[in-house]
Amino acid sequence: MPKAVLFDLDGVIVDTAKHHFIAWRALARELGFEFTEQDNERLKGVSRMDSLTILLEVGGLTLPEDKKNALAAKKNDQYVKAIKQMDASEILPGVTDFLKALKEAGIKVALGSASKNAPIILNQIELYDAFDAIVDGNVIKKAKPDPEVFLKGAELLGVAPQDCVVFEDAQAGIQAGKNAGMYVVGVGDANVLTGADDYVSDLSEMTLERLK
Ligand code: G6P
Ligand code: MG
Repeated sequence: MPKAVLFDLDGVIVDTAKHHFIAWRALARELGFEFTEQDNERLKGVSRMDSLTILLEVGGLTLPEDKKNALAAKKNDQYVKAIKQMDASEILPGVTDFLKALKEAGIKVALGSASKNAPIILNQIELYDAFDAIVDGNVIKKAKPDPEVFLKGAELLGVAPQDCVVFEDAQAGIQAGKNAGMYVVGVGDANVLTGADDYVSDLSEMTLERLK
């Protein structure tokens, strides 16, 4: 049995991709081009500034650093307004029951997210206290697929990487978990994601039995 479970946030605990998409699309339109849902797929698990770089690439624009910082801040203002409307009803299927089962079994849980807004989201959905450790975009220096986010989580929990299981919906996140030497469960379409040790479509498919 693993000693700890580390969860990505966006796409695993809650579906924030739609809120990111609406804010990025609004920014693209202001800049005079369209940004599609298919383009948005490329931003999953990618940091805010790297996401902006991809968006500008889609629009064929090159902008100076100060302008990019201002645009990222503008997108984030709109995104934060949206996530401040979230509540516990937006927790994805199976998450609450699985967290409860882990707690009862004495298995530690940590968050491992690239988002600097993770604390706001966890407070909104009333899950902040469900985690023994929180590692987010405010703490880490290297983006996924670098293993830093998950290694830091394991360190805070005092558990060896090989005793940790990671749940991730993004390809870069699956890679980060594998680079950390952990067992990785891909969350989403097993035909699209690669490199994980197991796959579920959402956490309602996960039980303590299966985790063993
Ligand atoms: C997660 C999401 C990405 C997002 C990143 C940074 O990894 O999957 O789409 O760009 O977090 O989020 P932030 O809230 O810091 O802008
Ligand atoms: Mg994710």
